[in-house]
Amino acid sequence: MNQGRFITLEGGEGTGKSTQARAVANALEKDGLKVLLTREPGGTPAAETIRELLLTGAEEKWTIRTEALLFAAARAEHCAKLIRPALARGEWVICDRFIDSSRAYQSVSGQLSDSEILDIHRIGSEYLMPDRTFILDLPEEDALRRAAARDRGESDRIGGRDSSYHRAVMANFRKFAVDDPDRIRLIDASQSVEAVTADLVQNLDGLTA
Ligand code: TMP
Repeated sequence: MNQGRFITLEGGEGTGKSTQARAVANALEKDGLKVLLTREPGGTPAAETIRELLLTGAEEKWTIRTEALLFAAARAEHCAKLIRPALARGEWVICDRFIDSSRAYQSVSGQLSDSEILDIHRIGSEYLMPDRTFILDLPEEDALRRAAARDRGESDRIGGRDSSYHRAVMANFRKFAVDDPDRIRLIDASQSVEAVTADLVQNLDGLTA
């Protein structure tokens, strides 16, 4: 049986990742493919418990190193128990956030380098990498407006960080797309929902054959 494909959606807060992950999953299912839709941090009961630990409470609750290790621990569970088995069964896995979120968010403080974050990923998840990654790109004001409407003023421990933090996260994502254009594609998320979905499906070129 063919190995499945692993697709991830990334981007800042309020860029429409979850909506688009669902829409891409639906489009692939219509084409007769078996699809697993999942998210990070989370995806398994234990990883969802780690999500709760990470996203609630005060900013100073975790050091940046602990935070990075907890994301990697949740990911290790998710990869071992859900993502790798699905890929081995030949399924397509669509994941709302993955390793590039750790690279973009946990590197902002400067305490952890990109290669250290990737080292943790090697230890936790044997360096599982997506076949294709989409970064949903939205002007800062639009993303802030959408995130505020979604969270109704109650953003989580990381989403609530200040605008310079989120600007740095987005700059990291854009740099990843420039550095690795084969895997990582930047998608204009200011288009209509339907146009973004069409753009994503079109950018699965080379994987669907
Ligand atoms: P979300 O599922 O609503 O996008 O929220 C997850 C939050 O966690 C979001 O603020 C991004 C953050 N995050 C990281 O900082 N590092 C990671 O590796 C992942 C997966 C998420």
